[in-house]
Amino acid sequence: MTRAEQIAANLAAVRGRIVAAARAAGRAPESVRLLAVSKKMPADDVRAAIAAGQRAFGENYAQELRDKSALLAEDPTLPTPPEWHFIGPLQSNKVKYVAGKVTLLHSIDSPALLDAVEARGAPQPCLIQVNIAAEASKKGIAPADVPALLDRFAAMAHARCEGLMLIPPRGDARPHFAALRALREREAAQARPNVDLRELSMGMTDDLELAVAAGATIVRVGTAIFGPRPL
Ligand SMILES: Cc1ncc(COP(=O)(O)O)c(C=O)c1O
Repeated sequence: MTRAEQIAANLAAVRGRIVAAARAAGRAPESVRLLAVSKKMPADDVRAAIAAGQRAFGENYAQELRDKSALLAEDPTLPTPPEWHFIGPLQSNKVKYVAGKVTLLHSIDSPALLDAVEARGAPQPCLIQVNIAAEASKKGIAPADVPALLDRFAAMAHARCEGLMLIPPRGDARPHFAALRALREREAAQARPNVDLRELSMGMTDDLELAVAAGATIVRVGTAIFGPRPL
């Protein structure tokens, strides 16, 4: 099997997992979008995934996103360029490579980062990354600080908030997925301009079924599609 065939087979398997998990949860399979995490993977792997029908790709490093998206934007063999999402930690000096350039920025984790994104002056749909279990080692904003960040979005002209994102701690992810969903329901009850909390970005290779059962609308899957990432 070629690398491209392998990626196509992996994608089909992941799509099958999503469909099965959605049906088991009584959800429409189309209510869950698959984000293929292509971080550290070459542009050829992204091309193979596009040829197999994948449209949305997630990157964690700002310069890698810039370089890979530029390469593929110029590729005449692609019917349409892919949709890029940024899912990694973002330092303010790298915001210029991302803000206004991605379909969705999943990792707003501080008021300062939101302000830096807004200052670029281009429309930018965002998610708030929530550190649901308040782990010292993890990025993300504490659940208690989410309402204030949403209020800050409400005053923005370019950045808008479309939902919440989570990387759960090791161990059973279910309580964390449920907590993110509960936080979403709570905050969605309060109407704010520029805020529409329709997306829940949660679930990766090992726990996507649990995330779909808990209401994920975007699952971010790398290893099950592209294999283990190079160090
Ligand atoms: C934020 C984020 N989401 C999803 C993934 C994909 O994880 P996996 O390879 O387990 O599917 C990664 C991988 O690094 C990640 O950083």
